[in-house]
Amino acid sequence: MDAHARNAYSAVTPRIADAVRKIAGAKNVLVDDDKIQAYSHDETNAEKYGHMPELVVLPTKAEQVAEIVKLANREHIPITPRGAGSGLSGGAIPLFGGILLSLEKMNKIVEFDTANMVIVAEAGVVTNDLANLVQEKGLFFAGYPMSLQTCMIGGNIAENAGGGKAVKYGVTGRYITGLELVTPTGEIVWLGGKLSKDVSGYDLKQLVIGSEGTLGIVTKAIIKLIGHPTAKSDLLVLFKTARQAIDMVPIIMSKGIVPTSIEFMDQLSIITSCRYLNESLPYEEAGAMLLIEVDGTNQDQVESDLIAIGDLCEEHGAIEVYVAEDRNTMERIWNVRRNIAEAFKVYSPVQSLEDIVVPPSSIPEIIPELEVLSAKYGMKIPCYGHAGDGNLHATLVKEPSMPMETWHTAEVACLRELYQITRRLGGKISGEHGIGMKRKSYLKELADPVELKLMQGIKRAWDPNTIMNPGKIFDLADA
Ligand code: LAC
Ligand code: ZN
Repeated sequence: MDAHARNAYSAVTPRIADAVRKIAGAKNVLVDDDKIQAYSHDETNAEKYGHMPELVVLPTKAEQVAEIVKLANREHIPITPRGAGSGLSGGAIPLFGGILLSLEKMNKIVEFDTANMVIVAEAGVVTNDLANLVQEKGLFFAGYPMSLQTCMIGGNIAENAGGGKAVKYGVTGRYITGLELVTPTGEIVWLGGKLSKDVSGYDLKQLVIGSEGTLGIVTKAIIKLIGHPTAKSDLLVLFKTARQAIDMVPIIMSKGIVPTSIEFMDQLSIITSCRYLNESLPYEEAGAMLLIEVDGTNQDQVESDLIAIGDLCEEHGAIEVYVAEDRNTMERIWNVRRNIAEAFKVYSPVQSLEDIVVPPSSIPEIIPELEVLSAKYGMKIPCYGHAGDGNLHATLVKEPSMPMETWHTAEVACLRELYQITRRLGGKISGEHGIGMKRKSYLKELADPVELKLMQGIKRAWDPNTIMNPGKIFDLADA
């Protein structure tokens, strides 16, 4: 931790707490340890990354958010925005204490504009609620983060969340055409609009998307909707080895059919999730599986695309190709896939869930590298993820017999090596979970220094007092 930065901030005194109560209402301000504890961590390891806020505020309007930010800026108090806390890189953790601003009470749909195919929602709307609501009108929000049942749209925007449908539909940012932002100096501004095109100056909206809450607090978003696909089917393809499954990815991708998803799961990932859910998939024979989804508007077309992909897999050594024959089976398989991260957390709390991304054709080079790292550092490295996007969740897992001190050193050395391999393959250290606190030191090592300097310059211009989610992505002291 940067002790200098911590000392540079003011404390949340009783006077400040009263001022926040005056803005947001006393019932929306929490200061007792037992109430604010839940806001001290996200889905990363709480022991390693957690940090208590001094005060938690749950505003109900953008105007309140703006007043609180103005106060924090004036008094030099760090402020950390938070959605559902389902993040995986420590982005919503109040690293320097200060004010934690949760958007959970800003959960209203502001407008459902079917003529423009957009919905305007407050940042605290749960992503799945939004997806279900628009589906009732035959419309589709194409974002599909794996945590969709709990995560919030504001958090998806802050992290530019990816997920399970990005091969065909892209990531969250593609569907955000406008947003209301409270800047780090407490102004309210709308960026973008209900627009399909907009080159009226810099694309500040896109800069905010994925900036991990360091450039302001998103309070509302205009979300583009598309027609809901009426046909959909899944294939579960079993392979003897992880390498065989992964080798298939560029072969499928280069055939001209664009699947909605190509998800990869190795055997340990499948077994761990199945045990956690008390579910069963035919994994005994399989070293790895691909879960491939195709959707569209014509069931015959969907099925013929899936058959073509299935044939291709069989030609390349698949042991078995299962077609999910009904919605219930599809949901069961996806549930196993969605719960892998959670299952590993229960299986081994001492671990590091990674998120590397490489160009899709380099995907086959990753598995042998993971095998080498696993042997070298004496840890299991199960792997699963969005293979069609080149985005894999290799997870470093501590063996029970490994002493903690050995683990700490091995984890850092193994991560550094994994990231270097990723960079050599033309990749980056995070495809969808973000840098947050978890990967900050590695970004500093691996990013182009010119790129880092440009990012730091933007941060300084937007947040002159460095109060908005400080200590995330990079430290300004490193400039
Ligand atoms: C997933 C999360 C970990 O893909 O991103 O399951
Ligand atoms: Zn993922």
